[in-house]
Amino acid sequence: MATRLEPRRGVRAGEGSPDELAIAYRRLNAAYQQTLRYAEDVRRLYQQLQRAIYQSLLGLANALEAKDPYTRGHSERVGAWGRSVAAALGLSADEIETVGQAGLLHDIGKIGVPETVIRKQGPLDADEWALMRRHPLIGAQIVAAFEFFKRGAEVIRYHHERCDGTGYPDGLAGAAIPLGARIVAVADVYDALTSDRPYRRALPHRAAVEHLVEQAGRALDEEVVAAFIGLARDAPARS
Ligand SMILES: [Fe+2]
Repeated sequence: MATRLEPRRGVRAGEGSPDELAIAYRRLNAAYQQTLRYAEDVRRLYQQLQRAIYQSLLGLANALEAKDPYTRGHSERVGAWGRSVAAALGLSADEIETVGQAGLLHDIGKIGVPETVIRKQGPLDADEWALMRRHPLIGAQIVAAFEFFKRGAEVIRYHHERCDGTGYPDGLAGAAIPLGARIVAVADVYDALTSDRPYRRALPHRAAVEHLVEQAGRALDEEVVAAFIGLARDAPARS
């Protein structure tokens, strides 16, 4: 920003005099303070915009859950577990936030899967599975439009990868799977097991934990499972 340093009309000061320099300094300082205020306004607006976009995405995720009573509340619980496990593993505040938000939105891509497949009461056939397996990619594409949620998009894309490399969509293994996605995967499996489904009743906490332990180091990340079990031990049992 160009700043006029010449003295104001009516101010009689010699060239380079202390008065003139003092005036110039005050103007520069005022311009600087104004710039700081603008920067703060822009930062605040950007945060408001992020929140508005996130709320819209959440609305979409809720609309998806409203279609399927069996998954109602699932995203919220996966987000909450994801946040707690990320904190227990010592992730930064930003990373915890990303895992929590991505946990909430992890299945948003099911919006692009036919409702007949999502609500099917029995096992899916090969074609239906092929459609269902697209949801992590669709979800990542939906949120990838928002630059600030780039890492959240990765968590969504990889939440069905398995540590032994047998997951989808890319068959990544071990540490190649972003940690956030490994966290959401554990929370997702636990919550699915402890929830009623059309084809089976919810498992009790103890049986679900046994399943997690069995899958640790295979489908699921060992360290994440250990952190999850440590937290779940103290959590009140779900009805
Ligand atoms: Fe999923």
